[in-house]
Amino acid sequence: PRTAAVIPAAGRGVRLGPGAPKALRALSGTPMLIHAVRAMANSRAVSLVVVVAPKDGAAEVKNLLDEHALPERTDFLVVPGGETRQESVRLGLAALPADITAVLVHDAARPLVPVDTVDAVVEAVRDGAPAVVPALPLADTVKEVEPAEKGEPEPVVATPARARLRAVQTPQGFDRATLVRAHDTITASGEGATDCAGMVEQLGVRVVVVPGHEEAFKVTRPLDLVLAEAVLARRRA
Ligand code: C5P
Repeated sequence: PRTAAVIPAAGRGVRLGPGAPKALRALSGTPMLIHAVRAMANSRAVSLVVVVAPKDGAAEVKNLLDEHALPERTDFLVVPGGETRQESVRLGLAALPADITAVLVHDAARPLVPVDTVDAVVEAVRDGAPAVVPALPLADTVKEVEPAEKGEPEPVVATPARARLRAVQTPQGFDRATLVRAHDTITASGEGATDCAGMVEQLGVRVVVVPGHEEAFKVTRPLDLVLAEAVLARRRA
């Protein structure tokens, strides 16, 4: 089986503060996206990486990939992204060659996922799971709230039992045909699906969890940049 990784990297990263698109911001001097591409290419199972670039940034991303040393055995493709993550992933899937049978979808915003986590996801897909997500138990208790008018307090609706909740990460792994069917069947609403596995669940297909990793956290807010730099410094030590 041939496995490809699709990396949606077309988000603006508004929550990180003003600046370049999030995937192009530097971590230890190297763009976050390059870290994420390497994290996928480090897995021997991944033979192709498809980067979904900001709509007007495909040429810039192509240049970045050419500039940075990446493993010889991995091929790269760059395609322009869409308005939502869901649309960006769909555009990435549309660029896959016919012989790809398994797909990883990995956020550019999770640059530090260890290769063992990537391999565990690939292995579960190769063992026959149509959809696999890496996940961790939660530290925080989670409440569901009712959206309120701006400035008004939000009433709590429910408190799901924390022991049954998981925070899901990427890469998420899929049998290609299953993920494509989900994208063809499930129509986007609002900001679109923030998680591919959720779309597969809506098809009624079973999604399974493998252990995630604390270094696979998503770089979203300014404090996450501090943490990411610290993880990289520890790796170099
Ligand atoms: O915004 P969020 O952190 O959930 O984005 C997750 C991933 O989806 C990021 O890597 C981001 O670049 C990507 N994305 C995208 N196209 C969009 C919005 C987000 O590729 N329109």
